[in-house]
Amino acid sequence: MRDSQPKTIYLKDYQVPEFLIDHTDLHFTLADDMTTVRSRLSMRRNPESKTQDASLVLHGQDMQLQAVTLDGTLLSASAYKVDEESLTVASVPDSFVLECETLIKPQDNTSLEGLYRSASMYCTQCEAEGFRKITYYLDRPDVMSLFTTTIVADKAAYPVLLSNGNNVDSGENSDGSHWVKWEDPFKKPAYLFALVAGDLEFIEDSFTTCSGNDVTLRIFVEAKDLDKCDHAMQSLKRSMKWDEETFGREYDLNIFNIVAVDDFNMGAMENKSLNIFNTSCVLAKPETTTDAAFQRVEAIVAHEYFHNWSGNRVTCRDWFQLSLKEGFTVYRDAEFSSDMGSRTVKRVEDVNFLRTVQFAEDAGPMAHPIRPESFMEISNFYTVTVYEKGAEIVRMIAHLLGKDLFRKGSDLYFERHDGQAVTCEDFVKAMEDASGKDLSQFRRWYSQAGTPQLAVSGRYDEVTSTYSLTVKQSCKTVQETPKAFHIPLAMALLGEAGALRLQLQGAEPNPDSADNTELVLDVTESEQQFVFENIPERPVPSLLRGFSAPVQLHFDYSRDELMFLMSHDSDGFCRWDACQQLGVLALKDMIAAYQAGQDMQLEPRLLSAYQHLLSDESLDKSMVALMLSLPSEAYMAGIMPKADVQAIHIARMTAKVEIADQLQALFLQAYKANTLSQPYQANEQQIAARSLKNTALHYLMLSETEEALALCLAQYQQAQNMTDSMAALSALVNSSFEQQKQQALADFYQRWQSEALVVNQWLSVQAGCYLAGTLDKVKALMAHPAFDIKNPNKVRSVVGAFTANAVNFHHQDGSGYEFLADQIITLNALNPQIAARLLGPLTKWQQYKDESAALMRKALQRIMAQEQLSKDVYEVVSKSLN
Ligand code: ARG
Ligand code: ZN
Repeated sequence: MRDSQPKTIYLKDYQVPEFLIDHTDLHFTLADDMTTVRSRLSMRRNPESKTQDASLVLHGQDMQLQAVTLDGTLLSASAYKVDEESLTVASVPDSFVLECETLIKPQDNTSLEGLYRSASMYCTQCEAEGFRKITYYLDRPDVMSLFTTTIVADKAAYPVLLSNGNNVDSGENSDGSHWVKWEDPFKKPAYLFALVAGDLEFIEDSFTTCSGNDVTLRIFVEAKDLDKCDHAMQSLKRSMKWDEETFGREYDLNIFNIVAVDDFNMGAMENKSLNIFNTSCVLAKPETTTDAAFQRVEAIVAHEYFHNWSGNRVTCRDWFQLSLKEGFTVYRDAEFSSDMGSRTVKRVEDVNFLRTVQFAEDAGPMAHPIRPESFMEISNFYTVTVYEKGAEIVRMIAHLLGKDLFRKGSDLYFERHDGQAVTCEDFVKAMEDASGKDLSQFRRWYSQAGTPQLAVSGRYDEVTSTYSLTVKQSCKTVQETPKAFHIPLAMALLGEAGALRLQLQGAEPNPDSADNTELVLDVTESEQQFVFENIPERPVPSLLRGFSAPVQLHFDYSRDELMFLMSHDSDGFCRWDACQQLGVLALKDMIAAYQAGQDMQLEPRLLSAYQHLLSDESLDKSMVALMLSLPSEAYMAGIMPKADVQAIHIARMTAKVEIADQLQALFLQAYKANTLSQPYQANEQQIAARSLKNTALHYLMLSETEEALALCLAQYQQAQNMTDSMAALSALVNSSFEQQKQQALADFYQRWQSEALVVNQWLSVQAGCYLAGTLDKVKALMAHPAFDIKNPNKVRSVVGAFTANAVNFHHQDGSGYEFLADQIITLNALNPQIAARLLGPLTKWQQYKDESAALMRKALQRIMAQEQLSKDVYEVVSKSLN
C-alpha cells in the first residue's frame, strides 16, 4: 500500500490565483549530465484575490534548487522552504521579480512529462502539469504570462533550438555552443510552453491568411523521416483554410512549427506555434502508413491547429474545464474531417467508438461528467468522456441552435473571451446570448455522469390516423440518479413510399410543413408523449437520426422492421445502425444457444441483408464495408450484463465463418471489383474501395480455402501500400496457415525493421491475434529487440493491443489479467500516465461474469498492495476497487 493517500482536488474549492506573472523569462543550458534552468518572473499580487497571505507558494517537483533571488537580492535558506511539490517564499512585496536557478535531468525523465529526451533530442510536454518539473512556477491555466525563452546547447549535436513565438535573436559561443532567443507575443499559461532541441531537418511551405498575412509552415523531423511529412503539411494548410471559412478564425503569427517525437504519451500537443506530435500522428507515406493512419494524421493535425483558437487564445480557467477546449476542438476536427471526406462514414465511425468505449467508461468506476467535480491526478481525466462525449455535447448545442446561430455563438464566445481563461459555463452562456435559446436544462450534461437510456415505444391508431411515440428517459450511475436531461431526439416516420410529413399535435403548423419529414423532439422529462397527426399508414419510426444525442436508444423493432430501415432510411447513420441492431439480435441468439449447449443458427435475414449489400453496386463502398462488420465483441460485452467473453467470441466467429462460407462467391466478386490499378492516393474513393476489398479478403480467409490463401499471399507480396499489406498480414496471422504466417511475419520484419511505426504495426497485429497461445507470443515479443518498455507507442502496440484482444485477455485462467498487472507495476515506476491508462480494461470488472470479475479484482488488489504507487495508478485502482 502507498503510505499516504493523494489529495483530492475539488472544483467547488476553486479560488483565483493570489499572484499573477506578467513576464516569464526562461534561460536553458542543455548539457549531457545536467540541464540548468534560470527563470526570471515579474510578479504581482492579483487584485482579485481576497486572501492576503504574505507568502508565495510556487509549484515544483523533481528538481534541485540552486538559488532564489527576490528583487535582485539572493535569499538565504531561511527565507524560503522547499518540499516535494513546492517552493514557499516566506514574504514577498506586492510587486516583485523572482529569479530561480534549478537543475534538472531530462535524460532520466521517463515520465515523458516536463523536459525529457526522446532519441537524440530534447522536447517538452507540459499539459497538464508538466511545467512544474521544469522550474518553480504558478502552474495553473488561469495564470497567463508573456514568455521569452533562451536556449543554449552544443551546436553540432543540437543545431535546431525551438520554442514558442518568434525567433528574435541568436548567436554562437566560443565553446562550440550556440543560443537562440524566442519571444511569444501572446500571453499563455505554462501548459502551452514548449522547447525542442535536436539535430532535425524540416520541410517548409507557406499559407496566406484571409487578411493577407504570410505564415511560414515547417515540420521538423529526423532526417530519415523527411519523406513522410507531406500529408501533414497538406492537412495543415487545409485546416487553416477551413477554420477561416467555417469558424472565421485566422492564424495570428507568421510562423507555425510542428515537431515529430518518437516518445510521446499522447497523440499531440497544441503548444503555441510549436505543436509537438507523436510520430504516429504526423508521419505518413503510402508504403508505410495505412489509410486509417492517413486519416488520423489529417484529423490530429487539424485538431492541434484548431486549438490555437479553441484552447490557446481562449483557454481553460482550471482543469475541471478541460472539455471546454477538448470537447469543442474534437467537435471542430470532426466537422473538418466530415467536410474533407464522407460525413456519414465519419459519423458512423465516431458513434461506434463512442458507444463502445465511452459508454463503457460511463458504466465503470471511473465514470465522470464531462466537467468532473474532483480528481486526484488530472492526467487521468484526459478521457473519452471529456473529449468525445464533450464533443457530442457541443454537437447537440450546434443542432439545437442551427448552423447560423451556432456560428454567431462561437463568434461571440471568441470575441468575448479572447485572451482569457474561462469556464464551460462561459461557453454555454455565449451560445445562449447569441441565440436567445434557453439552455438551462441542457447544462445538466456538464454536471451529470452516465449514459441516458431512452426507451421509446410507438402506437399507431388507424381510426384517428395518429401515431404516438412514448419516450422515457432514465440514467443510472454509480453515484446517483441524475435529473432529466434535455435530449434532442431527431426522428422521422417512414411509410412504404418514403418519409411521411410530420405534424405534431399541439405544435404550430410549420409554414414549410409541405416537406417537413424530419423533426427534432425536445425530450426534457422522464416520460413524454408525442402524437403525430394525419399519418395515413402504420409507419416505421427512424429514431435518433445522425445519433442526435449520446444516449442508448431502446426501441423494440422487429427484425423485418430493421431490414426495412436498413434499405429505406434516408439517414445513413440509421441505416448502418439498423444493420448493427439486426447483428446484435443475431449474435444474442447464437450466444444463448452456445451457452445452452445447442447448435448455433445464423439469422437468415442477416445473410440476405449482407447478400443485398454485396450485390447492389450503387451503394457507398465504405458504408457497405462498415455494414458488413458485425457488432464488435467489445460492443456486445457492453450491452450484455455479466458478459461472457468466450461465448461472445465463439458466437461471433461462428457467425462470421457462416457468412464467409455462404457468400464466398460474392466476396470474391467484391474483392476483384475493388482491386485498384491506379497509384495509391489517400482519397475518399480509393479508401472506400480498399476498405471493401479488404473486408472481402477478411471473409474469404475465414473460409480457409486454397484459393483465398493464394489471393492473400499475392496481395501480401504485391502490395504497393501498407493498407493492403497489413490487411493481408493480419488475415494470415489469424488463420491456421502456420507456415505461410511465420514466413510473412519474418519477411515483414526483415523488410521494415528500420521503420519504427511499421514495426509497431507488426507488433500489434501479433498481440491482437485471437488464436490460442497469444499471451506466450506477447511475452516473447516483449523480449524482442524491437520492443522498448520506455516507448509508449511500443507499449500500446503490444500491451494495449493484447488487452483489446478480449478472448485472450479474458482467458478463464486469469493469466491475461496477471500479465497486465505485472506490466502496470513495472510502468508505474517508469511512466505513471501510461500505467494508469493501460489499467482501463481491468477496472471494468463489473461488466463481466462473476468468475472473470473475481480474477480481475484479484489482479487489481495485487497492484493496490504495491508500495510506491504513483498518484495516477493509485487513483484508478482505488476507485475501481471501491
Ligand atoms: N491537449 C492535447 C490534445 O488534446 C493533449 C495533451 C494531453 N496531455 C496529458 N498530459 N494527458 O491535443
Ligand atoms: Zn486537444
